[in-house]
Amino acid sequence: LNKEAFVGRILNWYGHSKRDLPWRNTKDPYIIWLSEIILQQTRVAQGLPYFEKFLEKYPDVQSFATAPLDEILRMWQGLGYYSRARNMHICANQIVHNYNGEFPANSVELAKLKGIGSYTAAAIASFAFDEPVAVVDGNVFRVLSRHFGISEDINSSLGKKQFQALANTLIAKENPGEYNQAIMEFGALQCVPINPDCNACPLRDGCFAYATNMVGELPIKVNK
Ligand code: ADE
Repeated sequence: LNKEAFVGRILNWYGHSKRDLPWRNTKDPYIIWLSEIILQQTRVAQGLPYFEKFLEKYPDVQSFATAPLDEILRMWQGLGYYSRARNMHICANQIVHNYNGEFPANSVELAKLKGIGSYTAAAIASFAFDEPVAVVDGNVFRVLSRHFGISEDINSSLGKKQFQALANTLIAKENPGEYNQAIMEFGALQCVPINPDCNACPLRDGCFAYATNMVGELPIKVNK
């Protein structure tokens, strides 16, 4: 499919197939940050109760910043990768002390904060501030490599650059946050890693991997 048709079909699919997830009904960068860090190495079903619990206990970045670290770490129990929680505490304090308690409103500034990498910076900037910057996570690698037939290794720096460049040409300028959510959701629910149901796929007719019987081979991942 050409790029406009690709974006249009993903957005249309998202309109009727998306899950109703609480962090999708907000533009509050704090709530988006909290959800994205929890979801980094954690499945939605497992992360959801933690997200609710944290948001209730710490409704804003000020309350998160002033909470004792050991209390945050206790609440984090069961999620693993505790450096996420430690970095969040540092990040919340950076925001309170260096940014007047407000999340910076663009991806370049966001990426300077502790624990916020390029994916999380793009997610917060596009969801909260409508910045047209593409998120590229594992779901996006898979959808783009299959649909457009990109066989560069997703773990190589050349591959990462290629995918990011393509993703940036697809980003919907009118509603970049919705498009980013949509392509990630498409990868999470439809264009899944193993045995995707291509017969039900609205992008099948333009899909390189489907046409060439490469769905099981793409994306290419050379072991790190
Ligand atoms: N995983 C990471 N970010 C997500 C989001 N915004 N919605 C659903 N799953 C996600």
